[in-house]
Amino acid sequence: MSEIPDFGRPVLVTGASGYVGQQVALALAAEGCHVAGIFLSRQVPLPKVDMVPVDLRDEAACRRLIRDLRPAAIVHCAAVTSLGFCQSEPESARAGNLHATRFLSHAVKEFAPSARVVALSTDMVFDGESAPYDEQANTSPINVYGETKADAEKHILSLDNGVILRSALVYGPPAREAHTFLSWIHEPLRKKRAATLFHDEVRTAVFVDDLVAAVMLLLRAEPPAESVFHAAGAEALTRMQFGQTFASAFDLPLDCLVPAKRAEAPNGQLRPRDLAMSCQRLIDAGWQQTPLGEALRQCRERWEI
Ligand SMILES: NC(=O)c1ccc[n+]([C@@H]2O[C@H](COP(=O)([O-])OP(=O)(O)OC[C@H]3O[C@@H](n4cnc5c(N)ncnc54)[C@H](OP(=O)(O)O)[C@@H]3O)[C@@H](O)[C@H]2O)c1
Repeated sequence: MSEIPDFGRPVLVTGASGYVGQQVALALAAEGCHVAGIFLSRQVPLPKVDMVPVDLRDEAACRRLIRDLRPAAIVHCAAVTSLGFCQSEPESARAGNLHATRFLSHAVKEFAPSARVVALSTDMVFDGESAPYDEQANTSPINVYGETKADAEKHILSLDNGVILRSALVYGPPAREAHTFLSWIHEPLRKKRAATLFHDEVRTAVFVDDLVAAVMLLLRAEPPAESVFHAAGAEALTRMQFGQTFASAFDLPLDCLVPAKRAEAPNGQLRPRDLAMSCQRLIDAGWQQTPLGEALRQCRERWEI
């Protein structure tokens, strides 16, 4: 295991105003890296991170960014992540997920060909009918979000030093102007109002700290023989089961949780049934999954700060 490559040159984090990108940027800054964080619309202030506005859908802007910065490494977190929005605005989804990644990859090939690029992808590249999915499983997306992310993966994999990190659904405490689905349960339950959760959608949700640790591990690792990695939690649970575990851990009223079916999802969302993923490659590399109970205990501690 080596250090994050070349501390003298910056590490670029795209999507640094987003939930995952914020925490990756902060973790890198805490290690003493010079971090440039890219945002689109929200200039979230992060200590020791240079926040730079760049629209990655603009090919010329992408080129300038990589040409001028020549980063030692890139963590690509920027994406259009709303399932419903992607489904109703497929061209916008393609622009933000696929074309932006293509432009970034082209610029890396031209100006920073040796940079380690860790690009976040998703369990939604799978159809949900053959879980658990390992790193060699064929992608088979059933919605626009999953399609655009699966297509974007190919551009990262065409790089000399590109790595795909497919994340399961992420959970953790609220960040600056950014949340996970836990907030959408916490907020109503704390007011003793109903929160609706699918009882027929299985996920192996991953604790955000574990996901950040996976990114750091992939940045540090010697060029790996494999290029696709999965980060997921050890527990395969329906959203409803996850909500119940969360509510119990936070002493929130369980009877406010209302079960729903995926078929009732708004905006024509097509939601895979079971996206459980296995993560053997990361585990073999020394990565560890925090047990759900312990992760929720840590979330609660930080939630109340
Ligand atoms: N969160 C999850 O549960 C989850 C699960 C699986 C995979 N992932 C993947 O993990 C990554 C991070 O997800 P997240 O939840 O952190 O996303 P998020 O909170 O929705 O943040 C998305 C980020 O992308 C930026 N962005 C969007 N379009 C852009 C563009 N054209 N140019 C530059 N920046 C742009 C946004 O900037 P502004 O906010 O400034 O507009 C924001 O910083 C994504 O690749 C996602 O597919 C997430």
